[in-house]
Amino acid sequence: MSKIIQAIRGMNDILPDEAELWMYTEETVRRLFASYGYGNIRMPIVEETRLFNRSIGEVTDIVEKEMYTFPDRNGDSVTLRPEGTAGCVRAVLEHNLLYDGPKKLYYEGPMFRYERPQKGRYRQFHQFGAEALGFAGPDIDAEQIIMLGRLWKTLGLTDVELQINSIGDNEARARHRAALVQYFEAHHDRLDEDARRRLHSNPLRTLDTKNPAMQDLVENAPKLAEYLNDEAKAHFEGLQALLTAAGIPFRVNSRLVRGFDYYNRTVFEWVTTKLGAQGTIAGGGRYDGLVEQLGGKPQSACGFAFGTERLVLLLKEQGVTSPAKQPDAYLVHAGEGATAHAIRLAEGMRDAGLSVLMHGGASSFKSQMKKADASGARFAVIIGDDEAVVGDLSLKPLREGGEQQRLSLPAAIDRIREYH
Ligand code: HAM
Repeated sequence: MSKIIQAIRGMNDILPDEAELWMYTEETVRRLFASYGYGNIRMPIVEETRLFNRSIGEVTDIVEKEMYTFPDRNGDSVTLRPEGTAGCVRAVLEHNLLYDGPKKLYYEGPMFRYERPQKGRYRQFHQFGAEALGFAGPDIDAEQIIMLGRLWKTLGLTDVELQINSIGDNEARARHRAALVQYFEAHHDRLDEDARRRLHSNPLRTLDTKNPAMQDLVENAPKLAEYLNDEAKAHFEGLQALLTAAGIPFRVNSRLVRGFDYYNRTVFEWVTTKLGAQGTIAGGGRYDGLVEQLGGKPQSACGFAFGTERLVLLLKEQGVTSPAKQPDAYLVHAGEGATAHAIRLAEGMRDAGLSVLMHGGASSFKSQMKKADASGARFAVIIGDDEAVVGDLSLKPLREGGEQQRLSLPAAIDRIREYH
């Protein structure tokens, strides 16, 4: 006997029981995003590798060690998308979507990162992402954050904290970076291997180190906030004022940096303490330079993404369930000619918009009735030889009192609808 082939490490099946909560979550998100004016966009899962190198940045964890990159059969380097922003901006430029003004877009689907799998962290995971292109003011940053706040509320999620920061514009970051390099050089003996390697290529990333031995070094490093220019400061203050006015609590976390090079000014994360180490549910920010970097005319931009696995895990943790979807009727049938009649009746009920579960396979009336009860259906529709000959049905209420009745199909449909 050969061993059963299993799914690849870090890549999960989502089984029917759990898929209910996924679908409920996904539908809620789609409806909410649409109500804020976001249109749906669907990009390919595979893109040219250089798209990610150029947008996410060569010296980031993702590009350096987490991408699924391989030559296709033609020898061209392609990559399974590790995130959606790069592909979304590529599509916007390729199809000139900004020709008639700003656009709000959202996408959903699988992303791939070769990370060490653990609870809340997978190699294939799913994101919902939203990107607003062509909006310059902090109002759109605020609106995206407010939209996420509403999503948590709609889903019944509590215990998520909003952290925000401003990482300024290029010029401020360049000056801060120079100061950081100087500071880290002065403490070279205390840097770990990663920090030394990144000393000149990406010293900012070291601020995000998890190494306990370097915490106080990082704590005392030059702060980006001290280097922000007036415009970036005003933008950040504007955002805070709007969030306060909207009643959204937040914490300014001056250590918040994100793992992509494309960000500027606003960055934010929604974090929970309920998922262990992988507590970031959603993250995003401004990326005003990316459109130009990918070959377009300069355009302001702001966006975010959240991980669906993490969101669903958190919902389960907090006891949120999808609203139960019980069938209207369970169709029980046995006898000569009963099956063909039963299929006809079931289709007739479905034409009328009812949900009908039809018993599959042959078994006794008694065991079929047990299944009907277990299905949660409100009614059992019973078809035996008699009903098949006459062309009607017997309707038995399962959740309320009441007698079993012999009815025509239209009368049964009316009776079931009355119950809604
Ligand atoms: P990100 O912070 O890398 O941002 O990912 C967003 C969310 O995806 C995370 O907060 C987390 O919930 C989820 N996530 C990330 N990696 C994993 C993983 N290995 N397993 C499970 N969930 C994961 C972005 O991807 C940016 N593109 C967001 C953005 C859009 N910024 C601007 N626009």
